[in-house]
Order: sequence, then C-alpha cells, then structure tokens
Amino acid sequence: MNKITQDKIYNKAKEWILEAGKTIRTKINDPIEIGSKSNPNDLVTSMDKNTEKYFLEKIKTTFPEHLLIGEEGFGDDVKTLDGTVWIIDPIDGTMNFVQQKRNFAISVAIYYNGVGEIGLIYNVMEDELYSAKRGEGAYKNDLKLSRLAQPAILEESVIGLNHLWLCENRLVNEKIMQELVKTARGSRTYGSAALEFAFVAEGVLEGYLTMGLSPWDFAAGMILVHEVGGVTTNIAGEPIKMLERNSVFTGHPDIHQRILNDFLIKAKK
Ligand code: IPD
Ligand code: CA
Ligand code: CA
Repeated sequence: MNKITQDKIYNKAKEWILEAGKTIRTKINDPIEIGSKSNPNDLVTSMDKNTEKYFLEKIKTTFPEHLLIGEEGFGDDVKTLDGTVWIIDPIDGTMNFVQQKRNFAISVAIYYNGVGEIGLIYNVMEDELYSAKRGEGAYKNDLKLSRLAQPAILEESVIGLNHLWLCENRLVNEKIMQELVKTARGSRTYGSAALEFAFVAEGVLEGYLTMGLSPWDFAAGMILVHEVGGVTTNIAGEPIKMLERNSVFTGHPDIHQRILNDFLIKAKK
C-alpha cells in the first residue's frame, strides 16, 4: 500500500474510531440489551452490534471495494486477505463493558494483501488511542512508544494472562505455567485482549499470552506490537494464522524468547 493511500485510510479509521468511542461514552448509562453467544458468559450487547454496523456503513460508503471481518458478523464472508480488509472488534472486553463500564476497547486493523498496514486500539473510557502505521512506529495519543527498545528480564516483568487456564486447560501443563507466574515479577488479567496487546506495545506489560483468540482480538494489536519491535506468535512459537483462532503469545523480544524456551516448550501437552 502506498503512503498516500495508507494516510487516507488511517485518517478515516481514526475519525471513525474516535466517533464510535464518543457515542459509547455518551450512552454508557443507557439501558442495553444483553445476550450471550457460545456460553452464558460470552456476552454480546446492542452496543457491540450497533458499533459494528456503524463501521460497516462508513467503510462501504467511503471505500466500497474494501472488505470487513467483524466479530458480530455484519461484515463480509472473507476467505483470504487479498485486497484491503478491515478486521474489527467493535467492543473488545464486552464483559468489562457490561459489568464495569470501563476497561474495554474498540479494535480496528487494516490489512492489504495480508500485510498489516494500520492498527488502532481505542481505550474508550480513558480516551486513549493506540495507533500504528506500518513502518512509522506506534503511538499512544501523540506520544511515540519506545520502551521495548530497552532490554528486559522476566524476573522484573509483568505478564498478562488469563487465570482460567492456570486452573485447567488442554494446551499447557498448569504446573509449569504456575512456575512462570512465580518467576515473573507479577501477572495481570485485564479482560480485553486488545488492551493487553496495547499495553505490551506501550511497555507496561512485557508479555501477554492466552490460549485462544480470534482474528478481531489480535489483528490490530499485532501491528502495534510489531511496530515497536515486539514479537507475536502462537504459544509454540509458530506464526499466527490471520484468519483462524490461535493461541497467542506477544511480547518484548527478550521476554518472548525466555518464556518460550524456559516454559512454553516444556509446558506443551
Ligand atoms: C474477549 C476478550 C477477553 C479474551 C477473550 C475474548 P470479547 O473478547 O478479549 O479478554 O480473554 O478470549 O473473546 O468477547 O470481549 O470481544
Ligand atoms: Ca474480542
Ligand atoms: Ca467483541
């Protein structure tokens, strides 16, 4: 994608994500319809659906040839990443949105022929926009992110992970994962994969790992982390398949290598 096209799409995507976030903030205390999807705790609300429809309408009006993959299914039936494809999670952290009215994000990624060109993650209630264009670094609002340029060691790092799979899961040995938690300085669960990616890019989490995410959960975050020199793979250290569910492990390169070699390879079931 050339720079002029990248800038044009970026400017629109930024305008729309800020506007969508403002709408959510304005309506944060309005009654919402809450439903569930794959299980009773997999929540979806009228706000998730309306936000995705808002992006769909904007994209199709402004860039009719672009395709959309959206979590709530209003987009296109995309089988390849040929052409320009938007990958959107209208609300990442819906449980937080419902229970806490904070700690959720809108995640927007734009890929061109399979290459991540633009990543935007908007922490709606904090009004903090994480953004990246391929080749231009990543930003939190106007601040360029650079903490990943410093070396990092696990014993002084904070790692994002989901506590549910420390109790029980089919992919990794829990005992070895518990050793990882004890070795790191601390661990955190934020409940929004997009925000956890953004925090890795910011350098306030040195790593984030989870057993299963969908494209809309990681598409924008991977671009942000890549732009600051971080690494994203699955938990076996293999490349992420962009159109499938994957286990995901993203982080500072030093921490990524250490956790992979000393924990994840041994923990594989
Ligand atoms: C979820 C959040 C959560 C992660 C789940 C995702 P949603 O997304 O990112 O942190 O652990 O795997 O499905 O459903 O709130 O968009
Ligand atoms: Ca999500
Ligand atoms: Ca969602």
